[in-house]
Amino acid sequence: MTEMTDPQVIVALDFADAVQALALIEHLDPAHCRLKVGKELFTRSGPVLVEALQEKGFEVFLDLKFHDIPNTVAKACKVAADLGVWMVNVHAMGGRKMMEAAREAIASASHRPRLIAVTVLTSMGAADLTEIGLQGSPEDNVRRLARLAELAGLDGVVCSPQEVDMLRNTMGGNFQLVTPGVRPAGAALNDQTRVATPEEAIRAGASYLVIGRPITQADDPLAALGVINEGILPLLSH
Ligand code: C5P
Repeated sequence: MTEMTDPQVIVALDFADAVQALALIEHLDPAHCRLKVGKELFTRSGPVLVEALQEKGFEVFLDLKFHDIPNTVAKACKVAADLGVWMVNVHAMGGRKMMEAAREAIASASHRPRLIAVTVLTSMGAADLTEIGLQGSPEDNVRRLARLAELAGLDGVVCSPQEVDMLRNTMGGNFQLVTPGVRPAGAALNDQTRVATPEEAIRAGASYLVIGRPITQADDPLAALGVINEGILPLLSH
């Protein structure tokens, strides 16, 4: 496997407890991926698990999607920075002041995590947006909220493969696009519907790919990760 300076694949650890998560990472290599810890696993196993993953050399995306008043979100982001995570996220719908407070809270951290925003949850369609009083198409809302995140000084957004192209053409070149809904050609879709292959997502301008079950449920997770990395490495500029 070619040496990677900045692994693009973030493996989603969607497990119910630390035992399962730690068993999986025995089959992974921190030189070839990062890990995502979300609400279920964090609520069960907490900062101790994040520290255990980091001690094994993995960088962690803490996917807790903070959304609260600016002071509360800022303090939560500061604690995430103290924990040493590589990436943390907030909801752009918390507003510019909330995002700025989050950015300022981690600005001077000795280990500053990347701070990204969720724009519109991909589970929400046009009718759901209308119901909560948002005008315009989901795409309009994604674009507007991504611009707001950039204005607030955030590092990027989470976006679906369908949004990568549009956002890459709208946002600055350094703005990071973190993309779930990725499936290698021929892999089971599970509950994902509109998917892209890793190569398609990277070609469209994704910075990082969040991939769960195609790796975590594989007979050989490291081999599955290796195939994905070999596919995208030639497309990367470094
Ligand atoms: O197993 P799979 O590759 O579908 O996992 C994708 C991960 O990305 C899960 O943790 C899921 O919650 C997350 N995610 C997603 N779609 C979004 C946002 C996050 O699949 N729009």
